[in-house]
Amino acid sequence: MASKILIIGSSGQIGTELVLKLRQIYGNDNVIASDIRKGNYEVMESGPFEFLDVTNRSDIKEVLDKHKITEVYLMVAILSVIAEQNPQKAWELNMASLFNILELAKDGIIKKVFWPSSIAVFGPDTPKTNTPQDTIIKPSTVYGISKLAGENWCAYYKSKYGVDVRSLRYPGLISYKTTPGGGTTDYAVEIFYEAIKRKSYTCFLEEGTVLPMMYMDDAINATISLMEAALRDDYISYNIGAFSFSPKELGAAIKKQIPEFTMGYKPDSRQQIAETWPESIDDTQAKKDWGWEAKTDLDQMVITMLQGLHYTI
Ligand code: SER
Repeated sequence: MASKILIIGSSGQIGTELVLKLRQIYGNDNVIASDIRKGNYEVMESGPFEFLDVTNRSDIKEVLDKHKITEVYLMVAILSVIAEQNPQKAWELNMASLFNILELAKDGIIKKVFWPSSIAVFGPDTPKTNTPQDTIIKPSTVYGISKLAGENWCAYYKSKYGVDVRSLRYPGLISYKTTPGGGTTDYAVEIFYEAIKRKSYTCFLEEGTVLPMMYMDDAINATISLMEAALRDDYISYNIGAFSFSPKELGAAIKKQIPEFTMGYKPDSRQQIAETWPESIDDTQAKKDWGWEAKTDLDQMVITMLQGLHYTI
């Protein structure tokens, strides 16, 4: 029998699309969605769903036992902007969720874990362009601190207890099925809604702030490829890159499709977070180890977003 998969955080930006893709590959009944809140219609209707609070270990265990699950994708986190507003809550949720899953894996109940890290692990001292896999990693945000601690805990559980846990450092992710919430890179999604509705957008980052970004399909493919790859002896949280742009460059790419589109800028506290993150990512290690390659470029992403959203908003 195929191993059954649980996605925790299936109503979130990544979780939603991950569930749908995994169901396509492994079959609807083999992929169990779970969250504290309902998800989108497609997720709720296409296969099993459980309400689940990731901070409650015995509830997680109950769901694992009920569905005979062996693989978990833990797609729950308080992102960078909300984490700055409530550091303790972000730390507690981001770490408690990870510990619960790592402990269940240590006990042999879960055989394989995916846990996402982020470009937020990098900080102001990290080289900004082509940021290497191994470099100075001193995050200056609460979210980044929780992701770096998480990477270290994953490495610990892997080397000490042999837990099979795998990670990617996602860049800003752009998608239209579910909106992101509370992140610094969210402008790159918001902009499309406003471009369609109002033909203009006021960005909360300065026009020249370059960040690494990726279209969701590539992020989902990276995630599944990594989970299917041969197991390495050591834990690595892989850098993955696709394209980088500033708000101004994204605006120009949208203007190619919507000539009336205009942009303004009103930077707020999110600017300080963005300034500590890389502009571009060196993902040689991921390419070498499991054949990672991004397929969608900036112009294709813009066209797909505009087409996708036209039908949903
Ligand atoms: N997209 C995230 C954020 O902006 C970064 O991982 O918080």
